[in-house]
Amino acid sequence: MVIERAPLEDELGDVLDKAIQGCGLTESVVASRTGISAERLRSIIDYCEQPTDLELRDLAVALGLRLAGLKAVASEAYPLPEISGLPFCLYPLRMPHGIGVTNAYLVANCSADWGILFDTGTNAEGLWRSWPQKIQRVAAVFLTHYETEHCGGLEALRQRFPESPVFGPAGTERLDGVVSLSDGAVVNEGGFAIETRSTPGHAAAHHCYRVTVPNAPQGRELLISGDLLFAGSIGGAFHCCQRLHESLRALVVGADDSTVVAPGHGPLTTMGNERAHNPFLGSGDLAG
Ligand SMILES: [Fe+2]
Repeated sequence: MVIERAPLEDELGDVLDKAIQGCGLTESVVASRTGISAERLRSIIDYCEQPTDLELRDLAVALGLRLAGLKAVASEAYPLPEISGLPFCLYPLRMPHGIGVTNAYLVANCSADWGILFDTGTNAEGLWRSWPQKIQRVAAVFLTHYETEHCGGLEALRQRFPESPVFGPAGTERLDGVVSLSDGAVVNEGGFAIETRSTPGHAAAHHCYRVTVPNAPQGRELLISGDLLFAGSIGGAFHCCQRLHESLRALVVGADDSTVVAPGHGPLTTMGNERAHNPFLGSGDLAG
C-alpha cells in the first residue's frame, strides 16, 4: 500500500527552541556563545530572518546538534525514506490539530477486517473521517500518552467498539478503564506482539510500542514513537528534559536501522534515516 507523506512536524525555529530547552540554556546564553545577537536569534526562531550557513554552524556547535540535519530542516530538504517491507498493513490516521497534524495508527493483517489501534487522535470527528472503511473491529487500543490530541477520540472509539481493551502507561493522568502496562510488558494479539517501552520525558507517563509479527518469515519492525521521536526532530520536554533524552537514547541504541518509526506527529520515517539525519541524534552512539 502507498502511504501519503505528511509534512514535517518541526521547522527550524521549533528545532532550535527544543534544543535550547534541552540543553538547559537560555536564548541570551546561546546568543553570547554564538556571537549572534539575542534579537537576531529570536528573529531566526520566529522565521522572520534566515540564518546564514555560518550561523547555523555556530548554533549546531552551541546546541550539540548535527549540522547537516539542521541545514536540511532549515532548507526544507529533510530526507525521508520510502516506507515498505512491513509484514502487515499500516494505516496512518491523520487529523488536524492546531496548525499541525496529529497521527493515530491502525495496524492490521492486510486481508483482515480488524486492526490494532495506536492512539485515538483528537476527537470523534477526526477519528472517523480518517478511518479505513475495511476495518470493522478493533482488537485492542494502545495509548502513548494522555494528551487530548492523542486520546481525545477514545470515548467515541469505546462507543463503537465497547469490547476493545485499552492499554496505556500508568500514571496520575491515566484515564478510567485503561489497563496499565509497565516497561517491557508484551501483549500478544492476533499474531502481533506489542512490546511496551516506557519513555517518560515529553509526559511523565509516556509509552512507545514496538510492533512485530513473531511468525512472519521476514519483514521490518514498527515502532510507535508517540511524542518522543519525530522525523527530523523530537517531542517537547514538557515533563523533564533529562528524562526525555534518556528515553530517546534507550530507544535508539540497539534499534535496527530498518525499523519503521511511526510518530505522533509528522511523517513516517525509519530508525536508520533518523540516525543518519536527525539534528538531535548526531552525537556518539546515537549517530549513524
Ligand atoms: Fe502531541
